[in-house]
Amino acid sequence: MNKTLLSITAAVALSACNGDLKLREDNIDEIVNAMTLEEKAQLIIGVGMPGIPVDQPVIGASDAGKVPGAAGFTANIERLGIPSIALCDGPAGLRITPTREGDDQTYYCTHFPIGTLLASTWNTELVKQVGVAMGQEVLEYGGDVLLAPAVNIHRNPLCGRNFEYYSEDPVVTGNIAGAYIEGIQTNGVGTSIKHFAFNSQETNRMNNNALIDVRTMREIYLKGFEIAIKKSAPWTVMTSYNYFNGTYTSESHDLVTKVLREEWGYKGTVMTDWFGGANGAAQVAAGNDMLQPGRQTQYNDIIKGVNDGSLSIEDVNLCCKRILNLVVQSPTFKGYKYTNKPDLKAHADVTRQSATEGMVLLENNGALPMKNVKNIAVFGNAAYSWIAGGTGSGDVNRAYTVNLIEGLKNAGYTPNEALKTSYEQWTVSENERNAEANAERQKNWLPALLPSEMPVDKKLLSEQAKSQDVALIAIGRISGEGSDRNIDGDFDLSSAEKELIKNVTAAFHAVGKKAIVVLNIGGVIETASWKNIPDAVLCAWQGGQEGGNSVADVLSGKAYPSGKLTMTWPLAYTDHKSSENFPLGKKAAMLNMKFDGQTRTDEKDVDYTQYEEGIYVGYRWFDAENMSVSYPFGYGKSYTTFEYSNADVKVDGDIISVTVDVKNTGNAEGKEIAQLYVSAPSSELAKPVQELKAFAKTKALMPGESETLCLTLNTADLASFHPGENAWIVEEGSYTLKIGADSRDIKAELTADIKAKTTPVSRAFTAR
Ligand code: BGC
Repeated sequence: MNKTLLSITAAVALSACNGDLKLREDNIDEIVNAMTLEEKAQLIIGVGMPGIPVDQPVIGASDAGKVPGAAGFTANIERLGIPSIALCDGPAGLRITPTREGDDQTYYCTHFPIGTLLASTWNTELVKQVGVAMGQEVLEYGGDVLLAPAVNIHRNPLCGRNFEYYSEDPVVTGNIAGAYIEGIQTNGVGTSIKHFAFNSQETNRMNNNALIDVRTMREIYLKGFEIAIKKSAPWTVMTSYNYFNGTYTSESHDLVTKVLREEWGYKGTVMTDWFGGANGAAQVAAGNDMLQPGRQTQYNDIIKGVNDGSLSIEDVNLCCKRILNLVVQSPTFKGYKYTNKPDLKAHADVTRQSATEGMVLLENNGALPMKNVKNIAVFGNAAYSWIAGGTGSGDVNRAYTVNLIEGLKNAGYTPNEALKTSYEQWTVSENERNAEANAERQKNWLPALLPSEMPVDKKLLSEQAKSQDVALIAIGRISGEGSDRNIDGDFDLSSAEKELIKNVTAAFHAVGKKAIVVLNIGGVIETASWKNIPDAVLCAWQGGQEGGNSVADVLSGKAYPSGKLTMTWPLAYTDHKSSENFPLGKKAAMLNMKFDGQTRTDEKDVDYTQYEEGIYVGYRWFDAENMSVSYPFGYGKSYTTFEYSNADVKVDGDIISVTVDVKNTGNAEGKEIAQLYVSAPSSELAKPVQELKAFAKTKALMPGESETLCLTLNTADLASFHPGENAWIVEEGSYTLKIGADSRDIKAELTADIKAKTTPVSRAFTAR
């Protein structure tokens, strides 16, 4: 008798003794007791994913037809009333298939701004509202869990998925992620904070071994997860693909059980990243409840492990309980009658507005907001093929993307038609030239090559300068899951792009007109060599499907930028310490699944990556080395100016409260982000020069208006992790509290005397 038949026979026999036993919120233990081992293994693994060349489970059953394009489903077990729930990507919106065979309706979803843009708002309330809107689409399209937010730390500017992630700093990351999760979950659907953890590169992402010391893990790479998870209780956590110090994250009991559950008190369900890890039994024993979307070998590992005694049935039962806990919370289980009609119109407004708030004004020599402008010479391919977001699972099947030209027209401007025609023709021919390469890239899930920048001759430039009121130059970048970025023509501008900025600006300046650069990018680029050439530089990021409208709102002054950078922009890529240990230009197939559980040690930065910089990631490194940067962490200009005064600090028990008055001293409305950095007294442990501990954003302030901001933290937030003591230690002494407009523009300094405090933790990660 084959295995499937055997399990069905056993299930039928059991169901006969269990009568009408069906899953309820209050009988999960009973249900688990009534499940056969095969059913348990089936529940733990998913139901497979069509079209992926790995061993798919043969025992899966689901309602997969319900939400086409969902990334995965849990298995349904009908006899016990266990329905299948749908797990769908994020994080820039719900990712499902937009059209269905034999069905006239469309199922497009709103493409909201990328994670980096949302984080650049530093506005947790706004991010929560974006989450509320996104979660409504999950609910109304029949989804149960959104596989988001993605919160890995920007260890290096060239990680291909940085656009999905928030920051180089864990405090920004954790607070923004917490707000996003809260917003989504108000709809009664779940989230999956990912990729837990140490997943800082895409090259060989399924098998890279991140070699990290324990202090760095705790203070940098786990901290953001810890803050978000404690703050907002995401329904699920997704472990990452990679190894760390020789163990797959999904097979690490230390990570998934000791730290996440026992230390942080996490009560939800843990799932793998898609096909991640090697050994199903080891994953279950680690406490990684769900192995998505499931492989036959993982199913076999579980059954074999229990039968030969190497995997305890208690561990299997625990995973099943936690999965059922998730199932009973889900809209599917509750019988929610979804409409397939989320409010896409309202959400288009949400994305349009939120995108403006995360844009960062890098330079402005009086060119913005634009005044007395009607006719615009728009240069740069990106303006005509606007990039809504990055590629891969973080992309969204949106109904449309408003490009910059359309956005400008909608705002009442007249972009030059002749330029438009030239750019459109150029783009068609460039796309033809790249067609073969792009077809190959698409097969490997890599972002398509963008057209190279169109050369513009001087005669055309001077005609444009004479006839048009202002020049806009759009520079675009794309990246995505499966590969990391490069330096040439990606981090650094191509020579054609540099020429374009130089020549356009010169031609417009020659006739007393201005040139403005708009960056339609998902991650950091080099700016030091050209940023002072144009009159203004606006980092618009990738703002989702309404991107062109959002940019036009900011250029025109209908809205204003109030974002600040959540990562340092160095003078050169190699200024980052991590650039010594990052897979530049190295190739490895995205789906490099070897499943043998062995770490490989052959190729530096591909098979293993040494996190040699330790805690000195981002501004922690640049500050320690006292290095100049192009833009510091936390930087961003406004259409107005702000003054800080009356800074004060109160320590009440464990709570430190810093207050400061922020006044709009300019002529336009604006919002300011105040950042609280702390410098610790010197101690046995080396400390960063300063670390962000809290931030707050003002409401919209009119000229002359002020607001008192309160930045609060707990004394425990001042702790560093001492690996020898295996404890979080707050050293006794005088701490300097710096209130900054950015990490290098400190407006006020205060001090607070803090008492020593030691908080021992479980002995996890003792290997290093
Ligand atoms: C990605 C995850 C995603 C999953 C499901 C994986 O390749 O790393 O972020 O949620 O696929 O699509």
